[in-house]
Amino acid sequence: MLSKVMTASLYGLDGKMISVETDIRNGLPCYNVVGLGDTVIREAGSRIRTAIENSGISYPLSRITVNLSPASYPKEGSHFDLPMALGILVSAGTITHTGEKRVFFGELSMDGQIVPVRGILPLVICAMENGAEEVFVPAANAAEAALAGNITVYPVETLRQAAEHFSGVRKTEPYAGTPDPDMTDKESVPDFADVAGQESVKRAMVICAAGGHGLMMTGSPGSGKTMLAKRLPGILPPLSRHEMLEVTKIYSVAGLLSEDMPMITERPFRSVAHDITRSALLGGGIRPVPGEFSLAHQGVLFMDEMPMFSKHVIESLRKPLEEKEVVIKRHGGSARFPGNIILLAAANPCPCGHAGDEHVRCTCTGAQLSNYERKISDMILDRIDMHIFVKRISCEKLDAGHGMTTQEMREQVIAARKRQKERFAGDEMMLNSTMDTRLMKKYCRLDEGCRAIMNEAYEKMPLSMRTYVKTICIARTIADLEDCEDIEVDHLAEALQYRGRSR
Ligand SMILES: Nc1ncnc2c1ncn2[C@@H]1O[C@H](COP(=O)(O)OP(=O)(O)O)[C@@H](O)[C@H]1O
Ligand SMILES: [Mg+2]
Ligand SMILES: [Zn+2]
Repeated sequence: MLSKVMTASLYGLDGKMISVETDIRNGLPCYNVVGLGDTVIREAGSRIRTAIENSGISYPLSRITVNLSPASYPKEGSHFDLPMALGILVSAGTITHTGEKRVFFGELSMDGQIVPVRGILPLVICAMENGAEEVFVPAANAAEAALAGNITVYPVETLRQAAEHFSGVRKTEPYAGTPDPDMTDKESVPDFADVAGQESVKRAMVICAAGGHGLMMTGSPGSGKTMLAKRLPGILPPLSRHEMLEVTKIYSVAGLLSEDMPMITERPFRSVAHDITRSALLGGGIRPVPGEFSLAHQGVLFMDEMPMFSKHVIESLRKPLEEKEVVIKRHGGSARFPGNIILLAAANPCPCGHAGDEHVRCTCTGAQLSNYERKISDMILDRIDMHIFVKRISCEKLDAGHGMTTQEMREQVIAARKRQKERFAGDEMMLNSTMDTRLMKKYCRLDEGCRAIMNEAYEKMPLSMRTYVKTICIARTIADLEDCEDIEVDHLAEALQYRGRSR
């Protein structure tokens, strides 16, 4: 008898419905899978047979053929075990047909347990969008599956339990928990109030968070760069529900969610070490998984000690930074993972760390300096909107008490974001930093005086056309922070300071 059990497969974050067609007929017992399944799927046969037998269900000793349809679409993942096992049971007449509107995901262990799989949220969303009404998932993935919203989730722990649901022996209860998106722990982010002095760096961070501008901090060791960076997440605006789901999908595919943490509710802050590989940063693998760049989606990617990264790794950021997504090409298609990030970088000014220091002399040779400078190419520096020099604070400042707190800074950021939201008519993806030249011209009208300043800067400073546009976008953010309708000379003057890096 021929049966059809529904499931789905992922490529990147995009899902596609797959029907598992199982045919059982007389002949020498065998199990064949056709239809572009990956190795895990093709080799599932013996695992499924053992799981069925260990569940106390009889396994049909016949000729079993499984077709994964549509056959031309490559399929991957261990979650095919459950629908494939149920397909056998339906075809053998052990259970009733499961129907077109029920969808199944789950990996089987040899003893018939259903173990959690990655990618449940995007898989369930795919099922829902394709008209499914019920979804059967590993019990440990139920809370994550329920985030999808309008679909009944059945948590199943064993193959036997799933089979009994369809043989009418014992029905499984649908998942009744409500995923709580307010399990925030903002406490874990330290406060800017701990940082003495450095008001100008804090100001730069407010601008960076408000407009989504990339920021590079250069300064001698111990000047507080890492300390400042760690506090940035505290001033970012909260994620919208839509953004939470978007970020959670990425973590789901990466296999980073758990029963205790089925949803990402805070903007990510991903700190990467300088020995990171290209594929860990951007993602990859035969079953494409997102890298740190995409795990930082809607949040911050922090590259501490930027010059220590391999040039090859830094240069690989160029396209993703511009396109705000990573495309992983594989035969059969390309997987896309979004990466709308704020790039935060820190660097020592030179190998000895003291160039530009007012009190300690730099001892580097000319050759050392130029070698160091060559490590970070202009290409990437050009693409980081803002550059700021972090000076060591004096001892008096350390005692003098504290300036802006995280709370105060965050309020400024949220107000400026609100203005941007109005400007871009509610398009959440849009920030001042994401304006292209056309939008920049539309929203950043410069009067005579402003024009003169920019012309002069273009002549005198090493501004490229890209950084010229970026400067105006930064000025737009500064104007938003001041609640000004138009960009004024002061805003441009401040914005230009963030381009005045000395190379
Ligand atoms: N402005 C500051 N206020 C308070 N403590 C500071 C400040 N700057 C530096 N420190 C102290 O110095 C330590 C080293 O700073 P760190 O952020 O690691 O410097 P960097 O990353 O620039 O080398 C911090 O952990 C902190 O204890
Ligand atoms: Mg540091
Ligand atoms: Zn030096």
